[in-house]
Amino acid sequence: MKRIRKAVIPAAGLGTRVLPASKAMPKEMLAIVDKPAIQYIVEEAVQSGIEEILIITSRGKTTVEDHFDRAPELEATLLARGKQDIYDEIVSISNLANISYIRQKETKGLGHAILCAKAFVGDEPFAVLYGDDVIRADYPVCRQLCDAYEEFGLGVVGIKEVSEEAIQKYSSMKVQPVRDNLFKISDMIEKPTPDKIMSLYSILGRCVLPPEIFNILEKTPAGTGGEIQLTDAMKKLAQVKGMIGVDFVGKRYDMGNKLGILQAIVEVGLEHKEVGESFRSYLKEISKTL
Ligand code: UTP
Repeated sequence: MKRIRKAVIPAAGLGTRVLPASKAMPKEMLAIVDKPAIQYIVEEAVQSGIEEILIITSRGKTTVEDHFDRAPELEATLLARGKQDIYDEIVSISNLANISYIRQKETKGLGHAILCAKAFVGDEPFAVLYGDDVIRADYPVCRQLCDAYEEFGLGVVGIKEVSEEAIQKYSSMKVQPVRDNLFKISDMIEKPTPDKIMSLYSILGRCVLPPEIFNILEKTPAGTGGEIQLTDAMKKLAQVKGMIGVDFVGKRYDMGNKLGILQAIVEVGLEHKEVGESFRSYLKEISKTL
């Protein structure tokens, strides 16, 4: 079975749920304490053995490229001031991975964004890490999905059970247990109405797809919200060949929604080596007043 070497990070969305923060600043660049969301995602891909990454951007998102580039003036200043530690950290960001960029010229949906990666991906399976979904795990979630792809040779989606209310905003999967946290998926639906819910398992943030997905995407008409939905294309894959769902082990933070951003900052902040202790004391103090 082919090893997964490439990953695509779609980060071209408008981020309307976190406006006004995302007006001039990509939501993927919003910081969790001191590191932008997309850096956590690139690090997860690298830790999963990914060698080449394509980030799908759009107008107004050049800060994403700047973040993973060298910053000569800043670096020289840090060195001149003897700040070796932060200098090393800043330089290491630009050496994290081999990253390419392509622009999605119109925000026509996640499926359309993935289609922009066709030439980059070529004829190999590839991982998709949604640019606004940060997932912290001891064993990287992207790697958990790659393991399943390499074992079963079928497209893989990261799934989690969500509430009945939430599933109507996400997607719903028809699942059959395989073993442990693995499921066979034979059907799915994007943003189901209550009568169309197949199970409370929804795709959250990660998948590994075979290159056939591009042929399907090219024929996929606009769906919910007038956008080309990746779920509609994966539905075909699930119906024809079947897919594997991995109920992944990890904590996901939805950086595309205001509560998700706050949860990420609080939880990462509590563990932060520099400010964690004082943040904990602060939270204890403030919680007495709640
Ligand atoms: P979302 O649906 O969460 O992002 O897409 P959005 O469209 O920015 O959200 P709202 O509803 O306006 O707040 C999941 C991922 O897919 C990317 C987004 O950047 C996000 O990382 N995406 C979405 C694209 O790259 N292109 C698109 O056309 C849509």
